[in-house]
Amino acid sequence: MSAGSVASLRLPAHVAIIMDGNGRWAKERGQTRVEGHRAGSEATREVVEVAAELGVKYLTLYAFSVENWNRPKAEVSTLMKLLERFLKERTEELLKNNIRLQAIGRLNDLPEKTRQQLHLSIEQTSHCTGMTLVLALSYGGRTEIVEAVRSILREVKLGHLDPAQINEEVVSQNLYTRYYPDPDLLIRTSGEMRLSNFLLWQSSYTEIYVTKTLWPDFRRKSFIEALDDYSTRHRRFGRVS
Ligand code: IPE
Ligand code: IPE
Ligand code: MG
Repeated sequence: MSAGSVASLRLPAHVAIIMDGNGRWAKERGQTRVEGHRAGSEATREVVEVAAELGVKYLTLYAFSVENWNRPKAEVSTLMKLLERFLKERTEELLKNNIRLQAIGRLNDLPEKTRQQLHLSIEQTSHCTGMTLVLALSYGGRTEIVEAVRSILREVKLGHLDPAQINEEVVSQNLYTRYYPDPDLLIRTSGEMRLSNFLLWQSSYTEIYVTKTLWPDFRRKSFIEALDDYSTRHRRFGRVS
């Protein structure tokens, strides 16, 4: 299927991706996990480009989870360096494609240099009006909900909010994702059938697409296949037909 024919499809406004399988991709080739992450970062570049080109409004990428801090120190530091390099080298391209960069997660946990580059890229692209690219970094769905509970309780304590007023909208407005709509389509690569703590609240009615393709091999064609599959889904939201 070509990008041309996708134009006529029902396009998800918000696509979220669990970019998984870099390690297995490297292992299959007798390479190190680091090389897998490097190859994964090329796939990221390509998918960001094609998503923007096709008219996706929001693309959220799970790049590093709160649990990923438990990986070997060397791998964590390589991932942080790759992220920093990705941002440094790709911000021009984001600007050229009118893509606005944003980030969600415990950003203060990131190493100083990575955080500085992240904030710089966010600032440099803040005027862009095309696709919004959201990087989930040191992100955990449960942590996000816990932080939302804390901030709601602070409002209650200050007398700004009556507990009786707490509803789904109030919770949503206290999540990192308050500026974005819920994802329409969630893609997970490498075949794992789990959410791994990603967008737990926001995915309540998201369509899920799992592919065995490993992230470094997930390119333009694979992304279009996922959109194609989405366009055949019948979203019922609990209603009849
Ligand atoms: C995804 O690939 C990248 C991150 C989680 C940062 P993995 O590193 O999880 O690759 P596998 O799952 O071991 O193959
Ligand atoms: C999920 O992948 C996190 C990211 C893609 C950033 P993991 O590889 O960490 O997930 P598990 O451990 O297989 O559940
Ligand atoms: Mg994995």
